[in-house]
Amino acid sequence: MAFSIIGRPRYEASPETLELWAVNVLPRFWQRGIGSRLVERAIRYAASKGFNRLELWCIEGNLPAERTYKKLGFRASAHRRSSSNITGHTLHETHYIKTISR
Ligand SMILES: CC(C)(COP(=O)(O)OP(=O)(O)OC[C@H]1O[C@@H](n2cnc3c(N)ncnc32)[C@H](O)[C@@H]1OP(=O)(O)O)[C@@H](O)C(=O)NCCC(=O)NCCS
Repeated sequence: MAFSIIGRPRYEASPETLELWAVNVLPRFWQRGIGSRLVERAIRYAASKGFNRLELWCIEGNLPAERTYKKLGFRASAHRRSSSNITGHTLHETHYIKTISR
């Protein structure tokens, strides 16, 4: 029904940083708070392990995801990247950062 994956960043980042690699909820379960709870759990996990930043990349225009991340305190950084690996079309991704205070 839903899953998230968190791990070491797959790009150069400070040692205090974890990356939220993925968060997915089956569409028929959207808008019930499940995605937000998964992201909140990832933030708590990162904090409990002593990390002070959680980062992720989000395809621009993915409004449900952007809304979820912004609501939970993620802010877009100045970094963007482009990829054509997924659909054959160029996709633009925005880098988001959540600073974790303990
Ligand atoms: C992003 C995703 C995980 C959100 O899951 P969810 O269970 O619907 O999340 P929530 O119910 O907690 O809703 C979070 C916010 O997204 C909004 N949202 C969810 N589905 C939406 C939709 N179809 N259209 C517009 N907004 C939507 C909710 O309204 C909510 O914002 P609000 O609290 O301001 O109203 C889910 O849409 C998903 O799995 N998408 C496909 C995979 C994906 O894109 N993952 C992110 C990759 S970066």
